[in-house]
Amino acid sequence: MCGIIGVVGGNQVGLDLVEGLKKMEYRGYDSAGIALQEGATFRLFRELGHVVNLEKSVEFDGKETIGIGHTRWATHGQVSVRNTHPHLSYDGAFAIVHNGVIENYKELRQELMDYGVPFASETDTEVIVNLIAFFYHQHPESLQATLLRAQHKLQGIYSFVLMAQAEPNVLYALRNRAPLLIGHKPGAYYVASDMLAMAQHTKQFYFLDDGEMARLTFDHCEIYRPDGTLVHKQPLTIDIPSSDVDKGPYEHYMLKEIHEQPFVLRRILSKYADDGVLKLDPIIIQALLEADSIQIIACGTSYHAGLVGKLLFEKVARKKTEVHIASEFSYQTPLLSEKPVFLLISQSGETADLRLSLDKIKELRRPVFTITNVMGSTLAREADAALLLYAGPEIAVASTKAYTAQISVLALLAQSLSTEGNLVHELTKIGFYMEEVLALETPIKTLVERLLDHAHNAFYLGRGIDYALSLEAALKLKEISYLQAEGFPSGELKHGPIALIEKDTPVFGIITQLSTALATRANLEEVRARGARTATIVLSSFKKPDDDLVLPDCHPLLTPMLTAIVVQYIAYYAAILKGTNVDKPRNLAKSVTVE
Ligand code: AGP
Repeated sequence: MCGIIGVVGGNQVGLDLVEGLKKMEYRGYDSAGIALQEGATFRLFRELGHVVNLEKSVEFDGKETIGIGHTRWATHGQVSVRNTHPHLSYDGAFAIVHNGVIENYKELRQELMDYGVPFASETDTEVIVNLIAFFYHQHPESLQATLLRAQHKLQGIYSFVLMAQAEPNVLYALRNRAPLLIGHKPGAYYVASDMLAMAQHTKQFYFLDDGEMARLTFDHCEIYRPDGTLVHKQPLTIDIPSSDVDKGPYEHYMLKEIHEQPFVLRRILSKYADDGVLKLDPIIIQALLEADSIQIIACGTSYHAGLVGKLLFEKVARKKTEVHIASEFSYQTPLLSEKPVFLLISQSGETADLRLSLDKIKELRRPVFTITNVMGSTLAREADAALLLYAGPEIAVASTKAYTAQISVLALLAQSLSTEGNLVHELTKIGFYMEEVLALETPIKTLVERLLDHAHNAFYLGRGIDYALSLEAALKLKEISYLQAEGFPSGELKHGPIALIEKDTPVFGIITQLSTALATRANLEEVRARGARTATIVLSSFKKPDDDLVLPDCHPLLTPMLTAIVVQYIAYYAAILKGTNVDKPRNLAKSVTVE
């Protein structure tokens, strides 16, 4: 979703802002803007489309010492220059960039208009900056006091960064349930919604908690609680190697991230297992052992990893597990067992639907843990404890390495609850098998060209764990190739979906379980008989001569670690075939921080 950044100090503020915005492009956006301040003057640059358009229009004169920038993913008001951030207050005294949603913006806008305050855009953001300006005129007290007054009026999820004519070398930053953190290097402070926007400048980060406000100058950072008292925080040192954020030799981040999966798996094993002995947080393990059920909550790809997690917990640890879509859970909390423990799975650790679920869970006073890829993310900090995925930054909007990392961590958790089996050993082998599957890139590309060239839809079929994977396969294909794609339990075909099959409809069959192989093959025969073009993805021990893609045999509960790579490649090459924007697909955002 929207990315926000502010810089005060240093000797290249304009450049730092543009570079920071570029680093946040992966989050998804449709316009971008920058405001630079020199004394009491704001210079505003706003453009539709990519940051390069903005870069061409920004004029730096090298004297800038402070500025703010924004990539906008439209929520309130269409994609237009006048809705693009930064926004100035009606009197021109303040400039703001904002991320999130102000729920009571209509009421506030009306109230302000009743007092004669004019509006220039359709955004909820303009309500914030006009409210601040209005309060400041009413009581020209300290800006801090003004912001606190505004904060008490604003409802919703938001973070913002503000510059004021009255204080030319100060940035104000306020966080309320939307990500915002501060970076520091000698002579400059940065504030942004995403660590990656600042990672090239510093390793020292201060995390703001909800309701906190920071006042930043080039050499000073003050953080205040909502009651106005000062908070003293220690910075955290976080190093993001530049190789983690560069594309390297790959044409797209998605392709790079697909290829990184064996490495990520090995890093997870090195963090959570010592010579085969598991070393996950004992507090989490104890809570899981004592619980009478595990409740997994997640969205999108993370939800699909949760479906595999359910099978792992139930089969390896004999622990009853349910998986919930976060946006459903937060509104209709289901009937739960007496002593549940909650696992939130979120690559970004910032997903709004999960944060709402967390609010519900906290009312239940039961243990809640987050499995996330982002250290210091909101969900990591608000849960009782967090397990990191160690996948490195995932830049492509379509999640790949985080998915297999989530399954790996879930497998290790499940194994930690049981003395039977040895998934650690099995996962060690998976790293090598993944490399074998990665080597199938060319045959998979050829298969995609054969099956999907003129396709307008596609289906994945599977049973059990292969059905869970089919859902992820279809999501990947939809997201980046824009093909209508569905994953079905293959046994359900005859109960409706088979009506969609016509001549040349592409159907992929995922067959990794001996117990269901014959049945799924029979279902594929049924669609073939109705004209479908089929392709099979099978394990080597039960391959047949005309199977299309044959994968190394592995533990039956870990097959998604291999089939995932195949379906990620399929989606990637389908997107290449269609000429879509692989890393930044239309309408999507990497981190979904609004409901
Ligand atoms: C995955 O390819 C998607 N971009 C999306 O479904 C994503 O998994 C979902 O929005 C959940 O995000 P999270 O893991 O950061 O919470």
